[in-house]
Amino acid sequence: VAIAREAAGTAATLDELRERLAAFDGCNLKFTAKNMCFSDGDPLSDIMFIGEAPGRDEDIEGLPFVGRSGQLLNRMLAAIGLERQNVYIANTIPWRPPGNRTPTPLETELCRPFIERQIELADPKVLVALGGPAAKALTGAQEGILRLRGNWKAHSTPSGKVIPVMPTLHPAYLLRSPAQKRFAWRDFLAVKMKLRELG
Ligand code: URA
Repeated sequence: VAIAREAAGTAATLDELRERLAAFDGCNLKFTAKNMCFSDGDPLSDIMFIGEAPGRDEDIEGLPFVGRSGQLLNRMLAAIGLERQNVYIANTIPWRPPGNRTPTPLETELCRPFIERQIELADPKVLVALGGPAAKALTGAQEGILRLRGNWKAHSTPSGKVIPVMPTLHPAYLLRSPAQKRFAWRDFLAVKMKLRELG
């Protein structure tokens, strides 16, 4: 973890961070994944979405949220007047865990310095945590996502800047439980209002 922190913390740009991550051999997930999924969208965006880990389609394409979950995310973005290419998208873990298993606590800790630095360098005004693992990783909150969602939390960057985080339901969960979409819709509207408020 110390090596990950050093590699991530000293990256001066997002391109450099991507190179450092690609060269980082400390996390075993790298060796079973086909591709690294660093980000998609616009790194200069005011809004950054963070999911858990790539799935099968993401692993094949090397981009986050390009499978069914991503298609739903695109529609959710459109519903609040945003387009995918105008937001920044990443995952807490950049490599697909084999068979989509849950990342282990060690894997999560090894990847954490990279996503933290990625947030710091992208410097969005607002973060949206897609699902419980992302919400937990970004805010340290221990409650389940059904309790957390809809309530603003905070993410502190390594340099101490505080960024508002909206935890919401993961698109993959919404595909299984479409009746819950109304809650995500509310959360997305809250994000839109926050962005307007922040100017
Ligand atoms: N689920 C995630 O959390 N991230 C992706 O990139 C795809 C599915």
